[in-house]
Amino acid sequence: MTDLSSKPVDDLTEQEADVELARLAKAIAEADIAYHQKDAPEITDAAYDELRRRNDAIEEAFPNLVREDSPSLNVGAPPAEGFAKVRHAVPMLSLAKAYTDEDVVDFIERGRRFFQKDEGLEIAFTAEPKIDGLSASLRYENGVFVQGATRGDGSVGEDITANLRTIKDIPEKLAGSGWPQSIEIRGEVYMTYAEFQALKARSAAAGGQDYVNPRNTAAGSLRQKDAAVTASRNLRFFAYAWGATTEDPAPTQYEAVQKFRDWGFQVSPLMVRAKSVDELIAHYRRIEEQRSSLGYDIDGVVYKVDQLELQRRWGFVTGEPRWAVAHKFPAEQATTVVRKIDIQVGRTGTLAPVARLEPVTVGGVVVENVTLHNEDYIKGFDSNGLPIREGMDIRIGDTVVIQRAGDVIPQIVRVVLNKRPADAVPYEFPDTCPVCGSPATREINEKTGKEDSRRRCTGELICPAQAVEGLRHFVSRGALDIEGLGAENIELFFSKGLVKTAADLFTLKDRRPAVQQALAERREEQARLREAASGKTRKAIRSVEDRNFEGLDKLFAAIDARREPELDRFIFALGIRHIGETTAAVLARTFGTMEELIRVGKATAAAEDPLSVFPSVDGIGGTVIEALVDFFGNERNDAALDALLAQVRPKEYKVVVSADSVVAGKTVVFTGSLEKMSRSEAKAMAERMGAKVAGSVSAKTDILVAGPGAGSKLKSAEALGVEVISEDEWFARVGR
Ligand code: IVH
Repeated sequence: MTDLSSKPVDDLTEQEADVELARLAKAIAEADIAYHQKDAPEITDAAYDELRRRNDAIEEAFPNLVREDSPSLNVGAPPAEGFAKVRHAVPMLSLAKAYTDEDVVDFIERGRRFFQKDEGLEIAFTAEPKIDGLSASLRYENGVFVQGATRGDGSVGEDITANLRTIKDIPEKLAGSGWPQSIEIRGEVYMTYAEFQALKARSAAAGGQDYVNPRNTAAGSLRQKDAAVTASRNLRFFAYAWGATTEDPAPTQYEAVQKFRDWGFQVSPLMVRAKSVDELIAHYRRIEEQRSSLGYDIDGVVYKVDQLELQRRWGFVTGEPRWAVAHKFPAEQATTVVRKIDIQVGRTGTLAPVARLEPVTVGGVVVENVTLHNEDYIKGFDSNGLPIREGMDIRIGDTVVIQRAGDVIPQIVRVVLNKRPADAVPYEFPDTCPVCGSPATREINEKTGKEDSRRRCTGELICPAQAVEGLRHFVSRGALDIEGLGAENIELFFSKGLVKTAADLFTLKDRRPAVQQALAERREEQARLREAASGKTRKAIRSVEDRNFEGLDKLFAAIDARREPELDRFIFALGIRHIGETTAAVLARTFGTMEELIRVGKATAAAEDPLSVFPSVDGIGGTVIEALVDFFGNERNDAALDALLAQVRPKEYKVVVSADSVVAGKTVVFTGSLEKMSRSEAKAMAERMGAKVAGSVSAKTDILVAGPGAGSKLKSAEALGVEVISEDEWFARVGR
């Protein structure tokens, strides 16, 4: 058998792609952990980038296979702080997948073989839609809802009880009778298309954020700190399974779900019981036909063995029941026309082409824009110069087939050539920036000698688009996180000349009258538009608007509150290329103060061989050092940084080492799952106490803190005679 990991993406079958995505998700997650706990990076930056590239390429080729835990969806995602952890006594599993009718036949055959000794045994199955939402587990004690949690990683989720209580499909008290004394009801939280469209419309009218798709929006709605926000989103819930329970709800899957309905839950009306492959597949086709009229996303049909006794006997493989399978639907497609192609300029000057489409509904969601990635993609080539669309380029006026699958951003899969207008010409990608007119070039990657697929504006600070994007980044969540200063306001202040650089934000209140006027003008304009659209009187609109207006003092206060930012946030906020949140944190930890980073940055920039001057720091590679050299070697940045530092004092990054701490100087490794705090919290705390946290066990390890589920690290610690303690013991030692 050939090694899958080296097989070209184009040659992968769907199943192989699925296996590869699972491997890559795991490998990238492991590398992330090793990197964050910077003592033990296990692979080089280049190897890491290669994993991510391959993951992205496979996802692009097989958008319907994008995993819930896909690394591409987790870039820069902040760790989920703020919700308590809940350990699932019975893990929340995932499902094996079937893509073809043959896969379903195989599944049934496996079952028959497994039970072949039982003569005359009839295995029954249930078939029901696979809802594309988020699974949740709801614990009922004596019929009363007491705790609800997300799936998390399957073993540990988050306590979102308050948010789940706002969902009207989730009964506070079970109806009827005969429920087990304690039972965890499991099912899917989802958002209907109607609700999703309504939220989008409300948000657009208020100048708020855009929402990508119902599933992501449902996820975001469930993770609100304020349950009132969740309540306003009108989420729904279907019950389809259960976890820990004091007794089986019924002897079969089918009857159990009927009980859930009697107890007050919504259950899928499309669930049936069947005995043969033909019946199952017939039901799959029926559900597929109804898919577009259901009003919510489903992405397949789940078949489960009906008899619980047989489920138990057939059992589990890693993380999946053997007795169930998800028969996936192909991605939904629709045909539409490319009206025009716009070029957007990002913070780092990348020219990003976007196709503006004749609006079309795909799986209940209206699609009007789709990214065209870059110049080569429009021509029909991927980043390796290989054809992606049977050599077909995309032209304005073309009829195209687009698809949207689950989480995936819509994409063009094919050009309908026989509908191409006679006068359509190949798209000419601009070689100047559409915003500032500077030349836009494709850099040559020094290592590979290949042209970058992206064209970038060379205007840097003189390019308004880059300046605006840079400002938006500066105030964004992971950066200075200035409340009330969203993208809209930044654009307004920039366009009125009130803010040109980040430093100007901190003197904004000196220009109060002008700020007030700019906001007033915009409100007038919005009111006019809305009045025209809704027919409401201006007075009614005013009163709503006036309340928003009180925000100016709050805004200035929010800006002032960020004059002493944490060093890592400040470094990240500068928007230096290749310096994301993680790298910013490593730099903060390494250099301690902004002055020191500037000093080293400048010395490195001035050196003939920068790589020999910059101290060797785990997690900081050549690309980052070159980006620092570009930044600190650029005089225009000097002035901007000086002006900024006249307004802002980044805090010193302190590692407080308590000398009397019993763990000071010790090397500690955490393994297994922690119940009292997240890994990153535990690590930060250990470091504050003067310990060094490593990612893997070696002879240098002093203490292994092992939570439930500890595996190979625990074994090596025992083999090496390293002291092993529990999480509780750890807290006892560090005095918490
Ligand atoms: S049963 C032991 N039934 O699919 C089996 N899951 O890939 C547990 N899902 O995490 C799951 N609709 O979020 C089951 N009718 C359904 C489902 C369903 C959606 C989701 C669920 C789970 C994922 C597994």
